Amino acid sequence: MQTPFMNMTFCVRTFGCQMNKHDSERISGMLEGLGGLMVETVEEADILVYMTCCVREAADTRLYGQVASLKNVPLRDDSPLKKRIIAVGGCIGQRDGEELTKKLPHLDVVFGTHNLASLPRLLQGVIEEGGHQVEVLDASTSFPTELPTAREHSWAAWLPITIGCNNFCTYCIVPYVRGREKSRPIEDIVAEAERYVAAGVKEITLLGQNVNSYGRDLYGSPRFAQILDALDQTGIERLRFATSHPKDLSDEVIAKFGKLRSLMPALHLPAQSGSDAVLKAMNRRYTSAHYLQLIDKLRDACPDIALSTDIIVGFPGETEQDFEDTARLVDTVGYHQVFTFIYSKREGTPAAKMVDNTPHEVIQQRFDRLVDIVQKHAYEKNQLDLGRTVPVLVEGTSKRDNLLIAGKSPKNQTVHAPLPEGVSADALEGSIVNVKVDEAKTWYLSGTIVDNG
Ligand code: SAH
Ligand code: SF4
Ligand code: F3S
Repeated sequence: MQTPFMNMTFCVRTFGCQMNKHDSERISGMLEGLGGLMVETVEEADILVYMTCCVREAADTRLYGQVASLKNVPLRDDSPLKKRIIAVGGCIGQRDGEELTKKLPHLDVVFGTHNLASLPRLLQGVIEEGGHQVEVLDASTSFPTELPTAREHSWAAWLPITIGCNNFCTYCIVPYVRGREKSRPIEDIVAEAERYVAAGVKEITLLGQNVNSYGRDLYGSPRFAQILDALDQTGIERLRFATSHPKDLSDEVIAKFGKLRSLMPALHLPAQSGSDAVLKAMNRRYTSAHYLQLIDKLRDACPDIALSTDIIVGFPGETEQDFEDTARLVDTVGYHQVFTFIYSKREGTPAAKMVDNTPHEVIQQRFDRLVDIVQKHAYEKNQLDLGRTVPVLVEGTSKRDNLLIAGKSPKNQTVHAPLPEGVSADALEGSIVNVKVDEAKTWYLSGTIVDNG
């Protein structure tokens, strides 16, 4: 098959959430399928694809700096192109479309979140005709999962079960750039999971902006618990999912923790705030009391469950008392991990019009106080595993020391252990080894491999 991508190199740079990372795997799969060769660095790449994020301002502005600095990076000597092709997709592509080529005139292609499959055609247009190509659609006509995928790791797979979001939390841009929630038929999900299991995948992470409402559009009521049952039946070793909206987390799903063989004892349950007034202004549609009740139920179902959350500090109008309520909630739950964000105004969202007059220093102080509480609990929670032996899915070696393996425990903690003598890291990558934990820090555990699984 002759395609314009034969002998061409491409590099995909990804910002943002797992959904974007997964979309990037599909893009790589498509371009590889057409004869392109994936490379790691910008210098080597004839085609450069940015998969962008605009959930907060920091992610948004990073793109401009990166694209601007490319001007000084020459094309490789034996490239079939005269000029490197730069494509921007993902959430900024979706939001800005044609506008983006005005801000960044040397962009060649802009595409959105609903038309990943169009990228090869748009690139081909630039290769054959020059000029630039922009295509952004209002909604998806099909699931990107119908495209081939080049997975980042052979042992782990992301599996989208829904795309889009219907929740319209008032601070959040995601529903505007990802469209309305759409569920994939259960048979398609199971078939894809079965293919992964047959290919030796150890861990599947189900993806959706709110997995708990999976199936509402297709079947009239959520069927997420059934998805968990069906995936457990495929024989997958480890099953995880993200993200859960507390308002839709059902008792039926909670009951799966500690019961389903493959479901890992870890849950990310974004609280966003502990103040009922702020939660209302955020349109989260639950109270802190309801949230805490969910935590109790989860711990009843699975006492050792590791909980993580997202918190936004400095939402418009957040008072000292509101922040105290958030600090108390975080202290009461005792999370293994908390992702803390300072509120970032996103044009076009309802919160962008709310009065926002808290000084930045005050917000920063609140943020720092919260981080102290978070770290205290993360450290204490990890101490519970001292002396225990935990199964660790090996992901590679530690960034700081290539004689240490790095992997994940069932509770999603990072675990380090020295490589056994005579064993290469490559040989262990993707396998599950038992590690006896002899040190527990705030952000990782370390120990010794007691057997190779
Ligand atoms: N659908 C997921 C992920 C949404 S984005 C969910 O509902 O959890 C990930 C996190 O980014 C959110 O949970 C929220 O904490 C944070 N976030 C979203 N918009 C933000 C904004 N405008 N400012 C600061 N943080 C934001
Ligand atoms: Fe954004 Fe809320 Fe949807 Fe999550 S549930 S993507 S925070 S609107
Ligand atoms: Fe960012 Fe888009 Fe994900 S805005 S967080 S990449 S859905």
